[in-house]
Amino acid sequence: MDNRILDLINEQMNFEYESAYIYKAMAAYTDDLDLDGFTNWLDNQSIEEIYHGEGMKDFLQSVGYKPVYTTMEAPKAEYENVLDLVKTAFAHEQEVTRRIHNIAKEANGVDERIRSFIQWYIDEQVEEEENFSKLITRLERIGDNWGAMYVLDHELGLRPAPQKPVIG
Ligand code: FEO
Repeated sequence: MDNRILDLINEQMNFEYESAYIYKAMAAYTDDLDLDGFTNWLDNQSIEEIYHGEGMKDFLQSVGYKPVYTTMEAPKAEYENVLDLVKTAFAHEQEVTRRIHNIAKEANGVDERIRSFIQWYIDEQVEEEENFSKLITRLERIGDNWGAMYVLDHELGLRPAPQKPVIG
């Protein structure tokens, strides 16, 4: 197996865990605003990112590659407002998508096991980007209307804790 591509998966595994850390910091920001629904949603998003990292860790170990854990940057703690936070999250997910697509491109025709494995993440990123894109649209419509904001916050409070998905 091509170690260069496995190194990319190891790098992405770390980036998924870093994503979890970023969303925890975002949840701390919304908790400070007493937006309990956003906080629940972001905390659950963070758990989902851990599962994304776990999927890569499990794959690496199943092919005999020992995962390497790298240092993470301290996540951003302050935002202009919730819309700014969600826009930042959307841009982050676009970067995740770019990296996942790059892994698929590198694996294509070189190692079909990796190419097959990474397909789950390609599909997942469609949903990840859509979630944040929709939140941006809704927050732009809400503007400074705190009544509407609390309707959305209530809805986001209903997001259940994710189950560990079957990946690959
Ligand atoms: Fe694991 Fe949100 O991408």
